[in-house]
Amino acid sequence: EKGTYPHFMLKEIDEQPLVMRNIIQQYQNENHELVLDEEIRNALLKADRLYIIACGTSYHAGLVGKQFIEKMAGIPVEVHVASEFSYNMPLLSERPLFIYISQSGETADSRAVLVETNKLGHKALTITNVPGSTLSREADYTLALHAGPEIAVASTKAYTAQLAVLAIVAADLAKAKGKDFGFNLLKELAIVGTAMETICGQKDELEKIAKEYLETTRNAFFIGRNVDFYVSLEGALKLKEISYIQAEGFAGGELKHGTIALIEEGTPVVALATQSSVNLSIRGNVKEVVARGANPCIISMQGLNMEGDRFILPKVNEVLAPLVTILPLQLISYYAALHRDCDVDKPRNLAKSVTVE
Ligand code: F6R
Repeated sequence: EKGTYPHFMLKEIDEQPLVMRNIIQQYQNENHELVLDEEIRNALLKADRLYIIACGTSYHAGLVGKQFIEKMAGIPVEVHVASEFSYNMPLLSERPLFIYISQSGETADSRAVLVETNKLGHKALTITNVPGSTLSREADYTLALHAGPEIAVASTKAYTAQLAVLAIVAADLAKAKGKDFGFNLLKELAIVGTAMETICGQKDELEKIAKEYLETTRNAFFIGRNVDFYVSLEGALKLKEISYIQAEGFAGGELKHGTIALIEEGTPVVALATQSSVNLSIRGNVKEVVARGANPCIISMQGLNMEGDRFILPKVNEVLAPLVTILPLQLISYYAALHRDCDVDKPRNLAKSVTVE
């Protein structure tokens, strides 16, 4: 039920702080640590390389998850788009473990790969919002997202739930391997939840931004470096699927290798700046596009913000920044679609779960 909300998408965006709290509750042990089942931990630790398989938004979550797991736990991870995997199966390591990320647990492209890796005898873990779904039943292990039903076609709360669960996987494996990644995940995820609440309270401002940059544009670019690049891919996907604006996410440094030719007077460029190591270089990219007439919308994190930034995210641990950076992008997409009279919850040509290959 939508309750007082005009659309499921807006309701589901607003539920994200609650989903963070649910996940914290579901995954914490009696010592207030976020942990995995021992069986799942042991299976993951046995692997010498993890292969994440997913589609669409779940694939974008996988890209961020790879960073979490590699940087925090030091385990190599590859991320593959499910529909390409069978044609282009990478050379597998000696002891691979497959992680299927799927909100619905019913996506045919992902299932086709699972059938194949099951045949090869490789262990599989499904991270899904629907325990009992096909992908969950056919894999050896399941981790639940605890996001509650997601009805809007555009995935929002499932994405942030996927990121949170992937962070828990990374932290649990890091601890098991005696690696100190330098922060308390439970505490930092609680801060993320509060930051999400703050952003959800800034809808008027985000609606204004959507009107100003996206009400009439034909196209839009999202740029970021490091993990912000992955968030820019997800931001662009959100915008295109519900507002039908041609949108592309780019690594900041890659624009000048071709795509900058598309920048015209007034082209909106949303630039993400949440990572201190690349704060100056992403701003350099903004200068390059502004020199070609772009209309820049810089979204930065408190502490890294500079004059002229259009939206400042509340400060959270930099590693977890994607969990909050995506919220303004979800809301901007929502308002862009609304003001362009699009069917927000049921965009044309799309289905909630894609059960054909
Ligand atoms: C985008 C979206 C899709 C899904 C994709 C995978 O908002 O919803 O890109 O993320 O179809 O679906 P699941 O996660 O159910 O496997």
